[in-house]
Amino acid sequence: MEGRKGTIFTVFSTAYAVGKTLIAINIAAELAHQGRKVCLVDLDLQFGDLCYYLKLSPKLTIADAQRAMKNNPNDVSVVEYLTTWKKGNVQFEVLANPRLMEEAYNMEVDVIRNLVQQLQLEFDYVIIDTTSTFSALNLAMMDLSTIINFVGIVDFIPTIKNMKRGSDTLKELGYDDSKIRYILNRSNAKTRIDVQDVESILGKHFDYVLPNDFQAAQNSVRNGIPLVIDARHTSLAKELASIVEVYDQSDGGKKPEKEENQGGWLSRLFS
Ligand SMILES: Nc1ncnc2c1ncn2[C@@H]1O[C@H](COP(=O)(O)OP(=O)(O)OP(=O)(O)O)[C@@H](O)[C@H]1O
Ligand SMILES: [Mg+2]
Repeated sequence: MEGRKGTIFTVFSTAYAVGKTLIAINIAAELAHQGRKVCLVDLDLQFGDLCYYLKLSPKLTIADAQRAMKNNPNDVSVVEYLTTWKKGNVQFEVLANPRLMEEAYNMEVDVIRNLVQQLQLEFDYVIIDTTSTFSALNLAMMDLSTIINFVGIVDFIPTIKNMKRGSDTLKELGYDDSKIRYILNRSNAKTRIDVQDVESILGKHFDYVLPNDFQAAQNSVRNGIPLVIDARHTSLAKELASIVEVYDQSDGGKKPEKEENQGGWLSRLFS
């Protein structure tokens, strides 16, 4: 298949409920707001939240696309399985997760890879929301990705341990560091853990730091409208939009690594 090849962003984490879906939605909405052709893909197959957060009722899902491909491998167009989100002149497409658990369980990595590659030919950007595991599916998507957005929060020590394990695993798997963006979410949530300590443990500087804004996040879900569309004045929306701003820069907008930080009590736990 000839044609353009869209940029793929995967949003990944090693902990649950850290904001992957919120971030994926707002990256997609901001790019759409800038006039780009965007498709958001829900690969949290069993428990996907994209349609719930966007108040969409898809008629067809990724499971229907797989069924069609099994019946007719060479004659399936993924665009027929998309659901449109639209407000004013901003719109983007969503490939919804399966309705039934059984369908989700039976989804195949090769089929999903094929569908995402088809989307890449149709859209400027394909944004993939994932689950918090190093599964065969997530690794296949990370392989396809232009950028892996690795989301973390600083709450409890096990979360930080898993972030470190995830970051080390991405390195061991050979992903180029310039392909990985570290996003710290809910940065000002109450915690006794110091962000600099966490950066020292990870050996990484967070590329983006998103504030905690419970009210704005909750309103966005209640109304089904991304923050970057309806709450652009909030610091959270501004920071979310900034994730997109730098993608077109030649260095990919990646900040230089910070000087090694000696770290405090927490980093000693991991040394
Ligand atoms: N910066 C933030 N400030 C306040 N609330 C937030 C922020 N980011 C996310 N949330 C809220 O935290 C909850 C979890 O977010 P989200 O569903 O995006 O996480 P997730 O990583 O996709 O979770 P899961 O692992 O279940 O897929 C949601 O209620 C969301 O609105
Ligand atoms: Mg999610």
